[in-house]
Amino acid sequence: MITLTDIAYVRSGAADLDAATRFATEIVGLELVTPTEVGVAHLRADGRHHCLALVEGPSGVISTGFRVADSDALDAAETELERSGISVHRGSPEEARSRRVREFIGFDDPFGNRVELVNQQETVARPVAFSRGAGITEFGHLCLDAPDVHEAYRFWSTRFNARVSDWLGDAACLMRIDPVHHKLAVFRGDEPGLCHMNFQVETIDDLFRNWHFLVEHDVEIEMGPGRHPQSGAIFLYFLGPEGFTYEYSFGVRRIEDDATWVPRTFDPAEPGSIDMWLGPTSRPLTQPQLRQTELRQTELRQTELRSAESRPAELRPAQAAKAPS
Ligand SMILES: [Fe+2]
Repeated sequence: MITLTDIAYVRSGAADLDAATRFATEIVGLELVTPTEVGVAHLRADGRHHCLALVEGPSGVISTGFRVADSDALDAAETELERSGISVHRGSPEEARSRRVREFIGFDDPFGNRVELVNQQETVARPVAFSRGAGITEFGHLCLDAPDVHEAYRFWSTRFNARVSDWLGDAACLMRIDPVHHKLAVFRGDEPGLCHMNFQVETIDDLFRNWHFLVEHDVEIEMGPGRHPQSGAIFLYFLGPEGFTYEYSFGVRRIEDDATWVPRTFDPAEPGSIDMWLGPTSRPLTQPQLRQTELRQTELRQTELRSAESRPAELRPAQAAKAPS
């Protein structure tokens, strides 16, 4: 059993990195971390160095990251996944640096979603310099697609510590890895991908102010404002560039007493099961998972950008090799 201690990040490819970054900052309100890596925009919402990395290259999800407790836990996870026949990639130091983690492993879930387990995600002490006052308090949850949400639950609950909080029939499985009602959700979808990335906001007023702000800025509202009966959260889903769906929400339920919580099943066809305020509902757009060939294109593009950026070797200061003493 692999214990996930928290969600870590979403990494997403952007064909137009500038436009995607502008939306993430000026519209969503995230902080653009001072760039240190050409072709990558790190976006911050809370204590994490970043929770969203936009990477110049083919448009689509690169990976989603989850934390484990320490290095031993990561090694044990690697062994456990490999023993069960899952192919595991150990991240290079350069890849780990870009993710601002000490080390990580990557693998595909049975549905083709690229998942990364990380150890020691970097925390930044200074307050977040939000690009606008959206009221964001933290990266709240992420939602993946899979063709069978029951199979997805079997994967996440047998190999990992995920527990179902509530079911939306065959359409969604909402899972917790800590007291928050769901930090990981799986929605039914034919292809792997990221259904949405959620940010919690501080007050209900923030949520409604954001709604007006998005409407004024001609952002496509996919669903909401409404209220999910499962988590009790007031939600607003909206569409960003590259088919990336963001969600703001406020007031998510916490399940403090695990032993007494009984998961419920809601029929998605029943009025009020998705939005208890009975507003119009629609399925948020999923950003597809990048396939192996596209992931290689992303790597090639990053290599190109880095080599264009780097100065010729003869101009670099000489590095004196230290002899071991
Ligand atoms: Fe959500």
